Amino acid sequence: MNILILGSGGREHSLAWAVLQNPKCDRLIVAPGNAGIRAIAECASLDIMDPGAVVRFAEEEAIDFVIVGPEAPLAAGVADRLREAGVLSFGPSAAAAQLEASKSFTKEICDASSAPTAAYGHFTDAKAARDYAAAQGAPIVVKADGLAAGKGVIIAETVEEAHAAIDDMFGGAFGGAGAEVVIEEFMTGEEASLFVLCDGANVLSIGSAQDHKRVGEGDTGPNTGGMGAYSPAPVLTAEIEARAMEQIVRPTMDEMARRGMPFQGVLYVGLMIEDGQPRLVEYNVRFGDPECQVLMMRLGAQAFDLMHAAAEGRLADCDVTWAEDHALCVVMAADGYPGDYAKGSVIGGLDTCPSDSFHMVFHAGTAAKDGKMTAAGGRVLNVTARGATLREAADRAYGMVDNINWPEGFCRRDIGWRAL
Ligand code: AMP
Ligand code: GLY
Repeated sequence: MNILILGSGGREHSLAWAVLQNPKCDRLIVAPGNAGIRAIAECASLDIMDPGAVVRFAEEEAIDFVIVGPEAPLAAGVADRLREAGVLSFGPSAAAAQLEASKSFTKEICDASSAPTAAYGHFTDAKAARDYAAAQGAPIVVKADGLAAGKGVIIAETVEEAHAAIDDMFGGAFGGAGAEVVIEEFMTGEEASLFVLCDGANVLSIGSAQDHKRVGEGDTGPNTGGMGAYSPAPVLTAEIEARAMEQIVRPTMDEMARRGMPFQGVLYVGLMIEDGQPRLVEYNVRFGDPECQVLMMRLGAQAFDLMHAAAEGRLADCDVTWAEDHALCVVMAADGYPGDYAKGSVIGGLDTCPSDSFHMVFHAGTAAKDGKMTAAGGRVLNVTARGATLREAADRAYGMVDNINWPEGFCRRDIGWRAL
């Protein structure tokens, strides 16, 4: 098959790596890809936010199957247009992508399906939102309704902070994403993510993960896109996973189908777990980054068969073959991230890192210049390893980190600490 993956980060590098292991893959193109992906697959420059351009490209290159990595093209209708053109695609319609693109939509689906989640209010004007926050008291969580690249969530410790966040959002700090605001009860507990493939009717769990959103060790400092991840997440026991599937995921899928917007793709189920009870924090309609990297490391070639089955509506016949293994990913970022950072510094030592089914350095933001690998983003490398235990995976990953010579970069040394 000719396969096209849309996206350019470490997530897409790991998807490409897994797909290439499957003998059904004859040709793989990643658009736009990055310097690391270019070492294993063809890359093509393509505006992945332009559904018409993506359809034309897929037709010209005789693509049999498209895997959409990030949420923005999904929310822009890329998967809809591909399917209309008869191109098999993995990823939800724009309507179903509202599960990520609109927080109030998700809350309403939770209401309709009685899925446990934080109590909330939904507002289109600042006065009502401020009154609600004052009446509820702090801590309280203020969220821009739309896509805000992970930045639209403020955990307010005081009512004054909540009011400031509300004013910022209605004042346009997040553009159109903040034209509507959701205010939520602050939930306590431990967070973990569950990844579930959906084919519109059937669901199949493909594993759990935990990421580290804060930039600093011990989970301190500002939020980031994710500084590391590991899978499985021990807090998501089989019982809790079963509860999450039964009380949250299946009712959501049923409600989406009932509304005529069946969800097909991967559902990233962000959970807060307390006293054995999972509650929904958020859905994303795509793989997490860097959670995808650890999932792909564990699933290997079967990841392609499972995504293909989801796109063809065949998940009822599928199982995941698990090894008793663990995977861990350390994100190396440019000094300054998540604030301002410099681009262009040279990364050495990558050739000393093994590339096999236990070790991979996925590239998130790199560029090849004059035969050298350079940093081209905030999150730059995803150093990922697998082992029989989480400790072994961590030792392998940090062993590679220690061989990478990049003075202008940094990483957290404590990825996996909760589980180690
Ligand atoms: P979201 O973009 O909705 O996932 O929110 C980003 C992060 O904010 C989550 O991963 C949680 O750590 C935190 N968060 C969001 N909503 C809540 C909530 N209601 N209670 C506690 N923490 C939350
Ligand atoms: N690592 C968090 C995310 O992908 O949303």
